[in-house]
Amino acid sequence: MRRVLAGVLATSVLAGLVTIAAQASPRTAAADEPVVVVSSTFDDGTTQGWTARASEVVAPSTAVAHSGTHSLAVTGRTAGWQGPSLSILDKTQKGVRYEFSVWVRLAAGQTGTSAKVSVERRTAGTPSYDQVVSSTAVTADGWANLKGSYTLAADVDFLTAYVEAASETASLHIDDFSMSYTPLPPIQTHIPSVKDVLADHFTVGAAVENAQILNNHGQLLAKHFNSITPGNQLKWDATEPTEGTFRFADADALVNWAKANGSAVRGHTLVWHQQTPAWVFKDAAGNDMTATPENKALVLARLDAHIRAVVGHYGADIPVWDVVNEVIDENQADGLRRSKWFELTGLDYLRTAFRVAREVAPNAQLVINDYNTNVPSKRDKLYDLVVKLRAEGVPIDAVGHQMHINVQWPSVTETEAMLTKFAPLGIDQQITEMDISIYTDNSQSYPTPPREVLLTQAYRYRDMFELYKRHSDKISSVTLWGLADDGTWLDSFPVTRKDHPLLFDTRLQAKDAYWGVVDPSRIGETTTTTTPTTTSGSTTSTTTTTTTSSSTTTTSKTATLTTTTSLPPAPCTVVYTVVSEWQGGFQGEVRVTNGTANAISPWSLTWSYSAGQQITQLWGGVHTQDGANVTVRNASWNGTIAPAGTVTFGFLGTWADRNVKPIAYTLNGVSCRAMIR
Ligand code: XIL
Repeated sequence: MRRVLAGVLATSVLAGLVTIAAQASPRTAAADEPVVVVSSTFDDGTTQGWTARASEVVAPSTAVAHSGTHSLAVTGRTAGWQGPSLSILDKTQKGVRYEFSVWVRLAAGQTGTSAKVSVERRTAGTPSYDQVVSSTAVTADGWANLKGSYTLAADVDFLTAYVEAASETASLHIDDFSMSYTPLPPIQTHIPSVKDVLADHFTVGAAVENAQILNNHGQLLAKHFNSITPGNQLKWDATEPTEGTFRFADADALVNWAKANGSAVRGHTLVWHQQTPAWVFKDAAGNDMTATPENKALVLARLDAHIRAVVGHYGADIPVWDVVNEVIDENQADGLRRSKWFELTGLDYLRTAFRVAREVAPNAQLVINDYNTNVPSKRDKLYDLVVKLRAEGVPIDAVGHQMHINVQWPSVTETEAMLTKFAPLGIDQQITEMDISIYTDNSQSYPTPPREVLLTQAYRYRDMFELYKRHSDKISSVTLWGLADDGTWLDSFPVTRKDHPLLFDTRLQAKDAYWGVVDPSRIGETTTTTTPTTTSGSTTSTTTTTTTSSSTTTTSKTATLTTTTSLPPAPCTVVYTVVSEWQGGFQGEVRVTNGTANAISPWSLTWSYSAGQQITQLWGGVHTQDGANVTVRNASWNGTIAPAGTVTFGFLGTWADRNVKPIAYTLNGVSCRAMIR
């Protein structure tokens, strides 16, 4: 099964990672073990499958090398989009997140510019371009590492990764390109579904990208949420990139998924000052519009046509629309954001947008959506605008509160005032984009999110959902801006750093935040270990979260603590937990604590089963089983157990008659204490 691809050799950079044939199904690889599907070092003196995108020239070179003897030189470029390109069609599985890394350097004597990594995909001959790594400064003086991740979400017949440079003519070198993925463990199927827990109160949604309806993400989405909001696919730049040319393929895929899975859809968004293509605000001669009666008429006609086409395309399939987004600026005396829309039309763009949306979708709920609506000055300006427009007959049915908040701000009291402010209007309210950043200012960045911060976050989720439940007579839906911490806009906003704002972690496992919403009595039962990795030049981390008690057992934390502290020290302690069990199968979890004063590295834990259990899949370690005897060795990233530190791994297994827990364990040959849970 495992073999090295011809011309694709693991380098020292990739030591410890598994290199396998790309055609192998990701599901056959162990969860949490990175798998390299492409590694191009050029050290065999060939281009290793890399080609030019046009007439530029790519060739192996010994002029400079990031490692080994060769790089790939690119000369003769005549346009920014030209550069070295590699077909990854037969290496890429839909719905799998791949990490890309490549080193880039300009040829000697070239002036500094920027480079980026993109993917070109074609479906039925129509190309689309996805950015993998954003523009990064490159020079002739040293190597720059461009890193990013990419998930293919559509069926394609052509797929290439390529490096391009802003300078149209710069010659450059690339080296040590790699593309890898880390298989995810299964989602937890035996924990309560968020949507069921809150069914009496409101629908619960998540904002999604197309990749998130696939594989494990799709399973997680279907299990916990009964509404989705396309995160970008219905915005103007996605639906009408050039005038009169509409693209609905991505949003259609999400809407179809929702239909097939009994999920609602929130349409986001028809009018916004961002992600609106430049053509919308250019006059017939191609100049930027200024505020004239002609330009006002033209831009309102475009708005009318856009809403007619987009809302009309979905009809009853999208029963809720964020018609306008972020139109308030509390720092203006009149409270109105000075967007291009406002500059050209005053309040008329709002009037037109709601009127046309109502005309095209008479039964849809029409929402005015904004952020920081808890801030009293902004809240009041929004309130005043809603009152004014409704008095004119503008059909605003609901107020959307985005609720992008953080672990400290805002208070529950202030948030409650936000909800009660609008109550006298008898208008529906929706929480449309909630997430809770672990950061409270732009200078913070945690390689590993501290446990206290994640616990604080869990209590914040508890408190905010308690508040929403108290006011559920006013709130029809609560949507989170994202599904799990592996996909959050906060990784690049307001600064680039890894954030962890949602209910599920980067491996799609339930966090304490999840328990904050579902069962606050269980906050703190989740242990988290984190593997630092580097992405886009900054340190980010993959968080491993496990809940240490079974979903049906309520463990008294005090009792456990008393037992632990009253026992004499042991060199190692093992807690073996059956997380869930069904006929013939079970999910288990083992936590090992190092009771010595020295780090243990590497580690190997053994036990034997007395009732014929067989482990079928394990994550957070590498297992072998010989008859009854099981050995679990560390994964590449958790090879050291610090003094008093722990490691946790999980697994799936089968059982026949009884699922008896093992009673004896050894760690590197030394007997451990078995804690029975
Ligand atoms: C964000 C998306 O999640 C990102 O992928 C995109 O790059 C920028 O927009 N408020 C909104 C959303 O109303 O549309 C924004 O979504 C997040 C802030």
